[in-house]
Amino acid sequence: MIKGFIFDLDGVITDTAELHYEAWKKLSDEMGWHFDRELNEKLRGISRMDSIKVIMDHNRVSLTDDAVVALSTKKNDIYVASLDTMTPNDYLPGAKELLTHLRQEGFLVALGSASKNAAKVLQQLNATHFFDVIGDGNSVAKSKPAPDIFLYASEKLKLQPNNCVVFEDAEKGIDAAIAGGFHSVGIGPAERVGHAEVRFDSMKEATFFEVKSFFSEFF
Ligand code: G6P
Ligand code: MG
Repeated sequence: MIKGFIFDLDGVITDTAELHYEAWKKLSDEMGWHFDRELNEKLRGISRMDSIKVIMDHNRVSLTDDAVVALSTKKNDIYVASLDTMTPNDYLPGAKELLTHLRQEGFLVALGSASKNAAKVLQQLNATHFFDVIGDGNSVAKSKPAPDIFLYASEKLKLQPNNCVVFEDAEKGIDAAIAGGFHSVGIGPAERVGHAEVRFDSMKEATFFEVKSFFSEFF
């Protein structure tokens, strides 16, 4: 039986990818590093420290641990400042409707995000009230593709993984859901999330009716 839903944040509930891109781009320009949208795609769903390592590897740069932390903090300051522009109008189309519907139907709902800024993003969206449990980048040590963040969320909801559906837009996020034994819904192109149990192009198509129809044997 499906009793709970676990949502990734960035790329599922709201599109912060552009703000992350601008902040990494600003840092990279200052450092003289190459950074473009193609490389930004590789950062989808992975932690801040893993992200800076991907960018540095791409540029064949190596620095001390302290320098890497300082640079990732600099990027984060730029990113966090840009979150002030986010408002309750910035849900991805369909996301707020689905969250509202799930609450009306009495399902348990959790957040399972790699971001350490999830609380601030939810506040800006006025979305905190939709969630029974908030799992974010501060909740677990190992980030996606490890299943830890989703296991944290399901444990807090007091549900087994196979009683939960994970919504994810990242390849490594679907990897994490599968590794943890969760049902999975992929949001985005097949090249990225085609390994999910069911896939929708965007959250607009992922209505409660469509999701319920797909998983009908479990309701
Ligand atoms: C999300 C995004 C990633 C980002 C990560 C960490 O998973 O998809 O692109 O790197 O969160 O975000 P943070 O806000 O902690 O830097
Ligand atoms: Mg995401």
